Amino acid sequence: AFTPRVFSGIQPSGGLTLGNYLGAIKRFVEMQGQGFETIYCMVDLHAITTWQDPEVLRNNTRELCAGYIASGIDPKQSILFNQSQVSQHAELGWIFNCVARMGWMKRMTQFKDKAGKNAENASLGLFGYPALMAADILIYHATHVPVGEDQKQHLELTRDVAAKFNHDFGVDFFPMTEPVIEGAATRVMSLRDGTKKMSKSDPSDLSRINMTDDADSIANKIRKARTDPDGLPSEIEGLEGRSEARNLVNIYAALNEQSVEDVLRDVGGKQFSEFKPMLSDLAVSKLSPISSEMARLMQAPDEIDAILRDGADQARTIAAPILDKTYEIVGM
Ligand code: ADP
Ligand code: NA
Repeated sequence: AFTPRVFSGIQPSGGLTLGNYLGAIKRFVEMQGQGFETIYCMVDLHAITTWQDPEVLRNNTRELCAGYIASGIDPKQSILFNQSQVSQHAELGWIFNCVARMGWMKRMTQFKDKAGKNAENASLGLFGYPALMAADILIYHATHVPVGEDQKQHLELTRDVAAKFNHDFGVDFFPMTEPVIEGAATRVMSLRDGTKKMSKSDPSDLSRINMTDDADSIANKIRKARTDPDGLPSEIEGLEGRSEARNLVNIYAALNEQSVEDVLRDVGGKQFSEFKPMLSDLAVSKLSPISSEMARLMQAPDEIDAILRDGADQARTIAAPILDKTYEIVGM
């Protein structure tokens, strides 16, 4: 039996969005103190699969750490660290490059999305990203990984890697990790286009709410968010085929820790012109304490660096024996 252990990570590639918060960080916080060891990472090795300015990357890594802590991740309860500081990730990642198959990688929809039309010019790292992600998880024998829906396919690949390794070497060494994709906001959509997920990399600034946005800009973006001419239904069926309306209700439910059904019981019958200000007020009340704490922490980069160093030490004590054993199984 494997120790109940949660691992997850976010790329320090800039500008945490409400999607990252509701789909990932808020859930990471909820899993603390629930009988799991919790390990949360800034995955800088993943961030450089597309070019990053070095100074900006350094700053984004600290900002992400500040975002985690300000949201409620407690460095005394959870291990919080930077991927590149724990070399076992990259070492196991290489082993998994030799386990995973080209055909598996070619099926990954996120690579197709991120590489776009010019896939021949994408980095080899971007193509192989899911093998390193499998290593991030399995170097801790993590049993549970909270993520947004967009990561589901990568989690399946992680299980494929674990199963193939175990099979190829006749061992039962790596666990079949469970994805944890739950709640009202597993896929927060763009505020401008209900068919696209809210993303850091969307060229339209109005498409996303950033965790550090001030109250005016949150209100402005929600006011301009696309909806349809209808009002809010009292039952969930009334949101079918209305992805933009559904998205705003999902965001409200997740921020307010309610089910979508309960939200609709309260707001059914209202127009969006009335609901949007309610949603802005709620978003501001939840995000502004976090962003002001982030700003405070960003004034103390030494404090952040010390937390990350300490977290990396703790992470290494789990990762090192698992890597040693892996090398031994492989014949090294
Ligand atoms: P991004 O997708 O913003 O570039 P990452 O790939 O680092 O960021 O994702 C970090 C975490 O945030 C992942 O668990 C991912 O599933 C989650 N996430 C990102 N965008 C969204 C979204 N729009 N809705 C829900 N979860 C999301
Ligand atoms: Na993502």
